[in-house]
Amino acid sequence: MGVSINPSILSADLANLATECNEIRDYCDYFHVDVMDYHFVPNLTFGLPVVEHLLSKVDKPLDCHLMIENPERWAGAYAEVGAQSVTFHYEAAKSPRNAISAIKQHGSRVGLAIKPATDLQDVIEYFDDIDMLLVMTVEPGFSGQSFMANMMPKVRRAREIVLERNLPMTIQVDGGVSATTISQCSENGADVFVCGHAVFRAEDPRVACANLRSLAIDAQNGAWWT
Ligand code: DX5
Ligand code: ZN
Repeated sequence: MGVSINPSILSADLANLATECNEIRDYCDYFHVDVMDYHFVPNLTFGLPVVEHLLSKVDKPLDCHLMIENPERWAGAYAEVGAQSVTFHYEAAKSPRNAISAIKQHGSRVGLAIKPATDLQDVIEYFDDIDMLLVMTVEPGFSGQSFMANMMPKVRRAREIVLERNLPMTIQVDGGVSATTISQCSENGADVFVCGHAVFRAEDPRVACANLRSLAIDAQNGAWWT
């Protein structure tokens, strides 16, 4: 079993984005890019131009988390410019299957995200067609919020289904994941960890990445699902 540490650039110094990313490039697996449209969530961040520039300046795959309306219309473009993983929200899609095909058409990995209030049951039918499930552990929109430990049963249930069906799907958690919360995420079955403040606001982001990774691996070793 592997562990993926995906720092969220939303917590970085956005005026020095490429420099900040390159400093920790060797300590993480993907950079997590939070795309927000001020409609699906009450915040506005960045879109395709930033993704394209980042891809040209930082030699690391990007994990784009689209918090936007109408992902069927836009998700394919993120895959087309080269984002290796593109995640959209179930709640925003009229046809999740169309968004999935739009991403797959360009060869990127497909992620499906659910907000805290969304039942896991609603998305189980897509598990065979996606590469990653994102269980939000905060209300999407802002970095630096408190971790919702009450999302852990959802992570656990998703992991049970992955085991039962022997699926290759990974399980990502995003929101308030830090040195104090990452172990419980890993114990419950998550294997992809988005960390914003816990990495970019740390005194030494490299040490923070390494520490988060070792905490996740320690919790995974001997966990019920490994
Ligand atoms: C929230 C975003 C997160 C956020 C994580 O809507 O999806 O990726 O940037 O930041 P932290 O880890 O600080 O909660
Ligand atoms: Zn995110």
